Amino acid sequence: MNAAAAVLCGLGTWLPPQAVTNDDLARELDTSDAWIRSRTGIGTRFVATPTVATSDLAVEAGRRALKSAGRDAVDGVVLATTTPDRPCPATAPLVAARLGLGTVASFDVGAVCTGFLYALAAGAGLIAAGTVDSVLVIGADTYSRILDPADRSTRAIFGDGAGAVVLRSGDATEPGALGTPVLGSDGTGSELITVRSGGSREPLHTFGTDTGADGRADPYFRMAGKAVFRSAVERMADAALSAARRAGWTTDDIDRLVAHQANLRILHAVADRMRIPRHRCPVHLDQVGNTAAASIPLALAHAAATGTLAPGHRTVLTAFGGGLTWGACALRWPDLTPA
Ligand code: ACO
Repeated sequence: MNAAAAVLCGLGTWLPPQAVTNDDLARELDTSDAWIRSRTGIGTRFVATPTVATSDLAVEAGRRALKSAGRDAVDGVVLATTTPDRPCPATAPLVAARLGLGTVASFDVGAVCTGFLYALAAGAGLIAAGTVDSVLVIGADTYSRILDPADRSTRAIFGDGAGAVVLRSGDATEPGALGTPVLGSDGTGSELITVRSGGSREPLHTFGTDTGADGRADPYFRMAGKAVFRSAVERMADAALSAARRAGWTTDDIDRLVAHQANLRILHAVADRMRIPRHRCPVHLDQVGNTAAASIPLALAHAAATGTLAPGHRTVLTAFGGGLTWGACALRWPDLTPA
């Protein structure tokens, strides 16, 4: 008997209401709308107010994904995030409880900006194994909490948000059925995208007593943007091509490439490397910035709502992030209404 396929059947998103424009940032930092737009393509991002945590965003997106799927229950929750409410416990059980899902299986996945694709693969694996029949896969991040207020290079890029999909068991030939995911990592690059302090290597409580690598804590997110630019392009393009091949598609067959919204120049370079027209690569970062684990479901919902992504489109999702990590997955876009 073949393992059950995971079929995407619901999509929901949530953004915190406070928009921060490039001009807003330029009033605080040595930057400009022109620099940010030309180097990243970003115009606006959204920022959660101090009392709003990642679980709050995840619950809103999860509720909407369930509504989009026409369901009030699933058998599991997989939450991709780098910004959990607390270091312990995982945030997913709290989200499951707040959604009224009872005592279902729930856990967090940490793969930074590739988190949603790792969570999607985990959810599909649980369905294929017969552990669950349906699962809510959420990507939610509150990067505003871990950005250095004085770091213009990360403040310009990252925004908060959440997106979620519902997967149910079904047949591999159905619209929405996920192809075999492609996943990879290279831990030799772990220093390139990192929050150095606050984990077991450099617990925050030991600072002030000279125990940090340089005697100082750094609790903020740091990214060597230039150093990871080329890897991001190569890994996302190569993973996307592998996922397409696994689905039996050529490059020309790919109707839409929904890539992690890291930077407009990266999206264009990925499309060019894959030799697919840039217009097949939906752009959402101009409105929301890089929302880390939330970026792909937010981009999917925006593309579906604006008609850029239509039922039947042969779609490839691809992402790259800290770890370093990357991944991709192919599916034929299903007929659904994002909520
Ligand atoms: N405004 C004005 N100047 C700025 C800003 C800003 N907001 N940010 C950086 N600069 C300056 C830098 O200080 C630097 O100045 P210097 O030359 O005097 O040192 C100059 O601009 C050039 O900086 P670069 O880092 O070389 O700029 P670049 O053109 O590479 O753009 C960026 C930076 C946007 C981060 C880009 O490198 C990028 O997008 N990289 C890839 C990011 C990525 O893919 N990350 C992985 C996924 S995300 C994740 O996993 C969390």
